[in-house]
Amino acid sequence: MKFSKNILCIGAGYVGSPTMAVIAAKCPDLKVTVVDISEERIRGWNSDDLPIFEPGLLDVVRVARGRNLFFSSDITGGIRDADIIFVSVNTPTKTFGVGAGMASDLQYWEKTAHEIVANSDRAKIIVEKSTLPVRTAEAMERILQENKKGIHFEVISNPEFLSEGSAVKDLLEPDRVLIGSRQNESGLKAAQEIAAIFAHWVAADRIITSNLWSAELSKLVANAFLAQRISSINAVSALCEKTDADVDEISFAVGSDTRIGPRFLSASIGFGGSCFKKDILNLVYICRSYGLNEVADYWQAVIEMNGYQQERFVHKIIKEMFNTIVGKKIVLLGFAFKANTGDTRESPGIHVARKLLEEQAVLAITDPQALDNARRDLAGITGVTGAVEYELDPYRAAADAQALVVVTEWEEFKKLDFERIFVSMRKPAFVFDGRNILDHRELFRIGFNVFPLGKPSLTHFK
Ligand code: UDX
Repeated sequence: MKFSKNILCIGAGYVGSPTMAVIAAKCPDLKVTVVDISEERIRGWNSDDLPIFEPGLLDVVRVARGRNLFFSSDITGGIRDADIIFVSVNTPTKTFGVGAGMASDLQYWEKTAHEIVANSDRAKIIVEKSTLPVRTAEAMERILQENKKGIHFEVISNPEFLSEGSAVKDLLEPDRVLIGSRQNESGLKAAQEIAAIFAHWVAADRIITSNLWSAELSKLVANAFLAQRISSINAVSALCEKTDADVDEISFAVGSDTRIGPRFLSASIGFGGSCFKKDILNLVYICRSYGLNEVADYWQAVIEMNGYQQERFVHKIIKEMFNTIVGKKIVLLGFAFKANTGDTRESPGIHVARKLLEEQAVLAITDPQALDNARRDLAGITGVTGAVEYELDPYRAAADAQALVVVTEWEEFKKLDFERIFVSMRKPAFVFDGRNILDHRELFRIGFNVFPLGKPSLTHFK
């Protein structure tokens, strides 16, 4: 079959592969190839045991794989044949040198730019898919323009806004697709070419074009705004606990204002995930590098509030359990950074677990998906009484425990038989609901002392 264009994606990770699978499924006229240095990852994408789990992803992959979707480790061949190259390599936070702990590590990204130059013999559109610091495209252009072959590369920014657990839905029905380009003739033409791909399934009014720098910066700002909402409601939850106001009632009342909207206003023990912290730290670093210290401080406060919320939660556990948890068994209900994923990157559960162990509690962790990652995250850390218990069965985890601590908002936790759990626990029995998902009145009726987040506690103590 003759394809109208060859599309390549460098990086078969969480963003690149699902995005390309959807493009291939929706655009049978395009040949879409995904390449990666990891052969193991490519083998995974060529099997039915995909390297990542996302609802509906395998179905989408199966529609197109072998027809117009290909996974390969031939990076140089892929570059040579491509008309359009999406660059979706990872850009983690730097762990060394200047900007360590804040700036993006761009080494994979720059290496990719050099590979593109070395293996191209005709003009191409290069699309930044990775989340990058604003004005990275300028550096990309410089590297690409260095080529001695006189080839023109047009750099486009097309950030991805998908969330884990709903990646396929987010790709099929995006709120918007953002395409940034140089505002000259070749830039605008390239932006139109990329827009034409998404126009196969996305309505025209949801495809937004902008200048390159706005597109790059929008991604960081979108994540900063979402995280800021969570830090804002979490800050309010602390005040609620002092005033007997109820944070859920406040979220509802405030979120009913159509200018504010209801989403991302659920108080929690803090946001986690691979993006929020990384992207805000990067935003802060960029602001500082331009001398905008007040702006940097403003965004940094979002991260600080997130740390404070986790710290505050642990202190509350200790204080309410009579200022000592030494030797007491505490069960973490959940460890993933959010429900419906096994991902634990930046999960508040990591911090909570470490702190409880420092206080010499006995820890059991139960999570339907995240126990393997939890084991890795806490490797080498043992409590005074020995290893942490990792238990798939929440009932077994709760036996002999003194407190339940909700870390992740899994649906299955809401449906547990708490009468049965209460009977198996030591008394007085405590529940600390870091997600406000349980029926607090019912738990109180059963006999638990209940400490929700940002709501009055319900205790049997006189
Ligand atoms: C996020 C962005 O939503 C997405 O657009 C971007 O592309 C990548 O980063 P993700 O990390 O998958 O996606 O998770 P998200 O669903 O946004 O949740 C982030 C964290 O915030 C989780 O720990 C979640 O539990 C927490 N959260 C979310 C709250 O604490 N309260 C809320 O109201 C919403």
